[in-house]
Amino acid sequence: MTQPNAATIEAAANIAFIKYWGALDLERAVPCNRTLSMTLKRCCSRCSVEFLAGEGKDEIWLIGPDGKWLQPDESFSGRIARHLERLRAWSHRRGRFRVATRNSFPASAGLASSASGFAALTIAATRALGLSPSRSELSMLARLSGSGSAARSVLGGYVEWPAAAPDANAREEEIFAQQVASEDHWDLRDVIAIVESGAKGVSSLEGHRRALTSPFFATRQARLEERFLLVRQAILDRDLATLGPLIEEEAIELHLIAMSSQPPIFYWRAGTLAVLEEVRRMRDEEGARAFATMDAGANVHVICTADDEERIARRLQGLDYVEAVIRDGVGPGPAVLPQGLL
Ligand code: DP6
Repeated sequence: MTQPNAATIEAAANIAFIKYWGALDLERAVPCNRTLSMTLKRCCSRCSVEFLAGEGKDEIWLIGPDGKWLQPDESFSGRIARHLERLRAWSHRRGRFRVATRNSFPASAGLASSASGFAALTIAATRALGLSPSRSELSMLARLSGSGSAARSVLGGYVEWPAAAPDANAREEEIFAQQVASEDHWDLRDVIAIVESGAKGVSSLEGHRRALTSPFFATRQARLEERFLLVRQAILDRDLATLGPLIEEEAIELHLIAMSSQPPIFYWRAGTLAVLEEVRRMRDEEGARAFATMDAGANVHVICTADDEERIARRLQGLDYVEAVIRDGVGPGPAVLPQGLL
């Protein structure tokens, strides 16, 4: 069982329908535009944190898919160590953390493992410190990890972030995510076609930095608030015929910005295009109600309802370039687990 100074949290990744790509303040992860995502349920990070009295270095472990305990590489453990330091300072506590984390899906594959990872870490660490911050505070703290999308993964269902118009001068606690609708509102599914499972070449952090160099960035920003409002309304109306084309357009636009940045970023692989074509074919020729979106990676998320999920998954699995298919869907948000990893 978990000790009083310890906690284990499972948090899921999310797929953005309106994307964070370009920051007003990159250090503090303040996006240029409001974003909206769906929290998933199967692509999860499980994170156990212990807080121990006394001096000493924090311990950070990554548990691999085979159950082996690994010391994460320097850039990953550095980001976690900085976040722990931030949480320690925020709580005015002295002591050291022991952290173990495990993903249920390939890390760094454009599946937002940092969103689920930092959301789980933030919630577990604050509980291990004996604190129970509100969801808005947790969202704010998760954002300060530098992974803006983590600010959304502290909530379930459909989530907007920031809740108010982005403002680089806003106080820290004013920039948080909030739920648009719970997971019970609409049972959307996400069939994820994995066409590349390795780490992506250019981090989102670098992508945000380069986004502002695209000649099309300002045009995108000028159109985005309207698209955001339409997407939010389509979710509230459970209207896939309106939502689908909007999220496809949005995903292609993110990649258009990436490809036209200086230097350009090409996340797409041949498999990305093959999946996009198949989704279009199933829609045009077979009446499937399925729409594609991608985050900063080559993998394609196909958004559909439960009726179409099975045949879409089977079809995508049959494509040459597709390594695996993950069948996911809207989820309830983070959960406290009784059993720790440590
Ligand atoms: C394309 O800075 O949140 O997924 O920490 O790697 O998840 P990670 O990146 P972050 O940028 C997210 C970029 C995006 C779009 C989105 O999720 O809004």
